[in-house]
Amino acid sequence: MALWGGRFSQQPDDLLRKLNDSIGFDRRFYAEDIEGSIVYAGALARAGVLTPEEAQTIQAGLKQVRAEFESGDFVLAEGDEDIHTAVERRLTEIVGEVGGKLHTGRSRNDQVATDFRLWVMRAIRYIDGLLADMQTALIAQSAEHTETVMPGYTHLQPAQPISTAHWLMSFFWMLTRDRQRLRDAYDRSAVLPLGSGALAGSPFAVDRVWMAAELGFRAIAENSLDAVSDRDFVTDTLYALTMTGVHLSRFAEDLILYSNPAFGFVTLDDRYSTGSSLMPQKRNADPMELARAKSGRLVGLLTGLLTTLKGLPSGYNKDLQEDKEPIFAGVDTLSDLLPVLTAIISTLKLNPQRMRDSLGGELLATELADYLVDKGLPFRQAHHVIGGIVHLCAERACSFNDLSLQDYQAAHPSFGADVFEWLDFDRAMGRRVADGGTAPVAVRQQIDRARAWMRDFSV
Ligand code: ARG
Repeated sequence: MALWGGRFSQQPDDLLRKLNDSIGFDRRFYAEDIEGSIVYAGALARAGVLTPEEAQTIQAGLKQVRAEFESGDFVLAEGDEDIHTAVERRLTEIVGEVGGKLHTGRSRNDQVATDFRLWVMRAIRYIDGLLADMQTALIAQSAEHTETVMPGYTHLQPAQPISTAHWLMSFFWMLTRDRQRLRDAYDRSAVLPLGSGALAGSPFAVDRVWMAAELGFRAIAENSLDAVSDRDFVTDTLYALTMTGVHLSRFAEDLILYSNPAFGFVTLDDRYSTGSSLMPQKRNADPMELARAKSGRLVGLLTGLLTTLKGLPSGYNKDLQEDKEPIFAGVDTLSDLLPVLTAIISTLKLNPQRMRDSLGGELLATELADYLVDKGLPFRQAHHVIGGIVHLCAERACSFNDLSLQDYQAAHPSFGADVFEWLDFDRAMGRRVADGGTAPVAVRQQIDRARAWMRDFSV
């Protein structure tokens, strides 16, 4: 008999149950459900609804149910449609009729919202830890390569020489924003719905502020009707995870390109590369391709959830049962992915010589323009003059270093013999000393700031 069976004369059809039941996935937060119930029993006792002995009996029974889940001994029964009904059914088997008092003033609507928030809060902390590990690995690799010069790209075309640490650290800062987003989502998750009843609030004097403190929430929901259907916290969290996925896909794409022999900038460790069943020479970056692809899955999960929430009428609706699998899948996806990426970064072999060899002279075109600016030309005019020099080099199939001083002076009289000093990749990189720039001295400061950020940040 279902917990809500009283008003029905027939059992629910098996086909309905298969559709309706959520136990297959919501048993994942059995621990949070039981924790919430232990505290709720305490609140009922404080409100005088349960005697202290009754509350203790219920709490001891709940702990036994938890032990059964933990040891794998918990046996599902007919009618256990979700984790809430399963726990209450088993509790009542253990403690007898008094178990039936636990649900006084409570609905599965405020209960599920409470359980799920607790689960999401824990998941956020877990993913945040994995992101911190990846950041630590990025800092460690970067610290070794502040002076390593590589081509920087815009439009994937060679642009200007940059420090390899600067490239790596760009992903560090993306992950800081991801972690900030997760922290925001944590804040919005840590608001207690319990004590809201089905929609209208509780007629019993349950101390919601006390329950919030007991369960580690930071605030209580101020409106019971909002509390039972608010799933912003799920959406916020899933968006934060999706944004992380998008960042990881970009990192993955860089590594796929840079590990291609045409670039040869990096070599993935053997443990994180895969071969071909047919072509013996192949060394594929499969994990990075999966990282690139998984962001598509995350975008789909987020889109699905938003679509489910859109247009729901006030109060709880069964549609909301569909909020769990997307975030479970999102958390699982990143839980699988992030440790592999961290390991790949830690074991990544950088090939500084290949990076240097691939620096084309055209990466110094901006230097030549800056040279003329140094001599007093307006930048726009300097840009035009250097455009002419680039054209000349293209015609002669030569590089800036092959031109004579006369060639330069024919392009503009301000050129002097010192122009050749400017045609140096390390010098070009080293001139970008403004905060946030790629000069090794600035990148070292950037890394110091990153380390300080890591020390200060917490969810
Ligand atoms: N399994 C349900 C869910 O996940 C629990 C809440 C059910 N509430 C209800 N009024 N049917 O949303």
